[in-house]
Order: sequence, then structure tokens, then C-alpha cells
Amino acid sequence: MKNLVREGYNKAAESYSSSRDQFSNTKYLEKLANLLQPGATVLDLGCGSGVPIDKFLIDKGFEVIGIDISEIQIELAKQNIPNTEFFVKDMSELKNGEFSVDAAVSFYAIFHTPREEHQELFKKINSFLPEGGLILVTMGSGEWEGEEDDFHGAKMWWSHYGAEKNKEIIEKAGFEIILNEIDTSGGERHLFILARKTS
Ligand SMILES: C[S@@+](CC[C@H](N)C(=O)[O-])C[C@H]1O[C@@H](n2cnc3c(N)ncnc32)[C@H](O)[C@@H]1O
Repeated sequence: MKNLVREGYNKAAESYSSSRDQFSNTKYLEKLANLLQPGATVLDLGCGSGVPIDKFLIDKGFEVIGIDISEIQIELAKQNIPNTEFFVKDMSELKNGEFSVDAAVSFYAIFHTPREEHQELFKKINSFLPEGGLILVTMGSGEWEGEEDDFHGAKMWWSHYGAEKNKEIIEKAGFEIILNEIDTSGGERHLFILARKTS
């Protein structure tokens, strides 16, 4: 499934970028930005082309490290936002303590990894952060796992639990929820969670 997702985004990257909404995430990003110290470093998991999420953070004066499984998405990100660290990396293969950052974000990406791995993934993200470190993530609003044949012209696969279980996963990984909201912009339903690492 990971090959399907990587190949899918390699094929869909340009189309996805050109139709990506530039504004609907701004209110969540503003909330995160208001809680971060100036110059904080943010890891973006599944950063895509870097626009609009990483561009927003960099324009606010934060440092960004972006990782994505798709080589083409990372090429686009490097073109869109020069002088920023972008790496081809599968978030499922991250190791405890591999990064040391002040916050982590992930928009519309974690649900492309097997849902059985989500608990472990959030524990690893926790290991990258200091006490009080922040996460801002989107997750599925309802439970679903499956494939579609035409996602921007490519096959694509998703795997996620519903909102309640997703919230539990994040709390169990050692975070306290600050904001927990189903966003309906763009005619879709996504769970947005902003949370802080507890002691
Ligand atoms: C819907 S796009 C969102 C991109 C970007 N976060 C945004 O908001 O525009 C999902 C991204 O997640 C990436 N992705 C999917 N599975 C991944 C994995 N296992 N590790 C890292 N990135 C992954 C895809 O390649 C794709 O760029």
C-alpha cells in the first residue's frame, strides 16, 4: 500500500498542488503560530509540495523540516521553498528521537499510512518534542479504509479510525488536547487536533 501511495502522489503531485485550497487551514495554523516561540522549528510529516503549510510557517519566521514519501512532492517543495530542509522519507519508518523539534504538523497525510500504526507513530512524534511541544494534525473524522481509482488521475489508498478513537490515540501517546474540531471546508470532513506534549 505504501508503494501505491508513493506512486500515486508521484503521479498526482502537480494536479493536487494546483487544486490545493490555499486558505482553509489558515485559522488552525494561526492558532499554532500564536503558541510557538519565535524562530521555533516545526517538522511537517507528509509535507507535499510545501505550499501552503510550510510556506505559511516560514513566512511567520519559523524553521521547517519537511518529509514526504513522494520524490516528486519533495522536488516541488524544494522548488517552491528554497533553503529549507526537505527529505524523501516514509513517516512509518521514523525512529524514536530521530528529530528534535519544537512542534510537528501533518495535514491530510497520516491517513495514508496503516491505521494500526497510528498509535506508534504518535509515540514517535512525542519523542521528537520537548515537554510542552505542540502538534497540529488532521486525521479522519469517520472510520474508513480503502482504495480509489481516480484521485487526481492516480490510484490512492486511505486508512483511518473515527474522531473519538483518533483523539484517544493522541492522548494515549502523551498529549493534552487544546483543540479538537471537525473541519468541513472544501465539502469534506476532517478532524483537526492541536495538542501539547504533557510531562
Ligand atoms: C493529501 S497530500 C497533503 C500534502 C500537504 N500536507 C498539504 O497539506 O498540502 C498527502 C501527502 O502525504 C504524503 N504521504 C503519504 N504517505 C506518507 C508516508 N508514509 N510518509 C510520508 N509522507 C507520506 C504524500 O506523498 C502526500 O504528499
